[in-house]
Amino acid sequence: MKLNIALLAGDGIGPEVIEQAVKVSDAVAKKFGHDITWTPALTGAAAIDAVGEPYPDETHDVCVKADAVLFGAIGHPKYDNDPSAKVRPEQGLLKMRKKLGLFANVRPTFTFPSLIDKSPLKKERIEGTDLVFLRELTGGIYFGEKGRRDGGETAYDNCVYSREEVQRLAKKGFELAMTRSKKLCCVDKANVLETSRLWRETVQAMEKDYPEVTVSYEFVDAVAMRLVQWPNSYDVLITENLFGDILTDEASVISGSMGLMPSASVGTDNQLFEPIHGSYPQATGLNIANPLATVLSAAMMFEMAFNLPEEGAAIREVVNKALEEGMVTEDLANGGKSYGTKEVGDWLAANI
Ligand code: IPM
Ligand code: MN
Repeated sequence: MKLNIALLAGDGIGPEVIEQAVKVSDAVAKKFGHDITWTPALTGAAAIDAVGEPYPDETHDVCVKADAVLFGAIGHPKYDNDPSAKVRPEQGLLKMRKKLGLFANVRPTFTFPSLIDKSPLKKERIEGTDLVFLRELTGGIYFGEKGRRDGGETAYDNCVYSREEVQRLAKKGFELAMTRSKKLCCVDKANVLETSRLWRETVQAMEKDYPEVTVSYEFVDAVAMRLVQWPNSYDVLITENLFGDILTDEASVISGSMGLMPSASVGTDNQLFEPIHGSYPQATGLNIANPLATVLSAAMMFEMAFNLPEEGAAIREVVNKALEEGMVTEDLANGGKSYGTKEVGDWLAANI
């Protein structure tokens, strides 16, 4: 099969982790007889430096023409410490999500048996956790009108959702729940927020179309607590953009490291695969970043964008093997022997 993939390495550790995911994907392609064409394109601070724009039109064209996009990370500290910066790398990420119509961010959280003691949470609480967040990705407070008034002394960010935006996300949630344990949790703050009441009302109205799915409605503050207390009580969770951003970082603790969690951002026409972690600037160029979240994002790409489950499984298998055999970066080494980003990538590719 011919696979045309846009490659957006981005900033910080992005290029290093992407390089490993490419190696592993190429090894998978070789083993299964596929032909991958990678088309690199600029995003984030790297794109601002080169062309003054974090998501240039040329990059958008490359993404639209590709069958899938593999993305590293965006963000650079020189912008974080400059609140007056007019162009920010993160704007590129938001623009990319919006322009590609990637309204659903699929963020699975699962445990690895070999790492169960690595989590700061008690083993008996987290064992067997296997849940998926569907985070709405192109609406809400991230995209509402924002600005300053009163001569800059007051700031606002509006949170806006339309029924249709909620419906299309919830539809994916119901459909996913049907393929799993038929349990869906709608996470909101309907006791306070009007947008949350619209979410709840919309999802409630959809329940009749999925009579087999049991839906629960829970407030985001309570979910934040139960997620680390009883992660096993959840299966598919749907939520708005900012709640999903926060809860998925929290949930990554269950697996042991943020460096392990992949994600897929999907819409109607395009699909993008990216680790949930950021650009980790302190580690840039040090060959210490954990490449597994990006490698597992590549596994999701084979499964979801190309419908090649065996290829995805081959990647998951080799990742498990690396974890079992201690072929890991320092974040997972518990003070023991660790390997560089590149060494882990080489080992994975060689063991596919
Ligand atoms: C994520 C990131 C982004 C977000 C940032 C970098 C804009 O934290 O993908 O979760 O907030 O969506
Ligand atoms: Mn985030």
